Amino acid sequence: MSTISAPGTDVPPAAVPDYPMPRAAGCPFDPPPALHTLQEQAPISRVRLWDGTTPWLVTRYEDVRALLADPRISSDSTHPHYPHQSPATKERRRQSRTFITMDDPEHARLRRMVTATFAIKQVEALRPTIQKIVDGLIDAMLAGPKPVDLVQAFALPVPSLVICALLGVPYADHDFFQANSRILVKRTATPEQARAATQRLLDYLDRLIGDKLTHPTDDLLSTLAERVRAGELSRREAADMGMLLLIAGHETTANMIALGTLALLQHPDQLARLRESDDPKPIASAVEELLRYLTIVHSGRRRVAREDIDIGGVTIRAGEGVVLANDIGNRDPAAFPDPDRLDIDRNPRHHVAFGFGVHQCLGQPLARVELQVVYSTLYRRIPTLRLAVALDRIPFKHDGTVYGVYALPATW
Ligand code: HEM
Repeated sequence: MSTISAPGTDVPPAAVPDYPMPRAAGCPFDPPPALHTLQEQAPISRVRLWDGTTPWLVTRYEDVRALLADPRISSDSTHPHYPHQSPATKERRRQSRTFITMDDPEHARLRRMVTATFAIKQVEALRPTIQKIVDGLIDAMLAGPKPVDLVQAFALPVPSLVICALLGVPYADHDFFQANSRILVKRTATPEQARAATQRLLDYLDRLIGDKLTHPTDDLLSTLAERVRAGELSRREAADMGMLLLIAGHETTANMIALGTLALLQHPDQLARLRESDDPKPIASAVEELLRYLTIVHSGRRRVAREDIDIGGVTIRAGEGVVLANDIGNRDPAAFPDPDRLDIDRNPRHHVAFGFGVHQCLGQPLARVELQVVYSTLYRRIPTLRLAVALDRIPFKHDGTVYGVYALPATW
């Protein structure tokens, strides 16, 4: 059993294994084997992070879910023992705080201001618009030269166009905001690079919110500007929130589109089944299975214990850092039989790819509709879609806090 240390004190780092985060080259869809071993042999144990701290790593599905829903667990990134993912993410969290790293009631107050836009009913109403966007991008690809980089031609534009329309951000600025977002989800960025990218995005969002204050339009930034005018939100809080929604709204889904396509191309039997299906139910189920199988937000949910918590035979002391590994949790055989197999018929709605508990992904209804439209359209309209290079030439985001591919050369 793992050593239990006093609150806030780290066990000698030499006795603790490094956190096995990146997906291994040559095994692009699976979490590192070391995480499987921990799940089997030491499901709640210490790991060493980049800064030498040794938080708890939780790897079993049941424990991950239980702790994500536990009110004794905090998301407050200003806590001195918050287990930051990298120097860059630590800097970004310091510079721009949003409700994703706050606890209730602060978290609930801010999240409530934007929930209506992402509610299931609202998002379902967008389905025809999303279908039009997807069809238009496919038309353009089919009319242009090949091979294409599917990331640039399709995976990035789909969610970027949608989130821009929802927020009221001009899509013409996509090169600017995509390049800066990319820095902020790169584990290997330096703190200086992260600081500069955060500042550029905050200045940009602040300018847009300034415009919406004088010329409101029918979009979410205008709603936030209205809250600023009413004194319910500071202008800085509005810019921070706008930045979170802009980044989360396109980076994650774009990776699911490109990496999901690659995973399907590597599993032609599954792809054929998906292509043949007209029924929205199996398509929705395939989306859930790809979310589970790929778990692109793969670097563990970061938390701090507020009180002592007894779980799985260990005591996590108040003030200790905790990493909840939702990627390996989604490969736990106790929750998903034969978990390393991609099986689009398994219907794994209970997965934790969107997290769980009060911080469960706000944008999940939107991500689901976008992915359902993409997965039900792309492979049917381009049935001969295939990779234009060998798998070992694909640049995977091994250095990303969100997993995916930097490019996906494809032809048909
Ligand atoms: C496939 C796509 C997506 C995946 C896999 C994903 C994953 C996640 C995960 C794992 C969390 C939990 C964070 C935590 O517990 O610390 C989260 C939270 C969040 N996501 Fe997503 N997300 C996706 C798409 C989106 C989209 C399209 C938006 C739209 C703006 C969005 C906005 C957010 C926000 C605002 C939070 C913070 C919620 C809170 O703290 O209350 N996400 N997401």
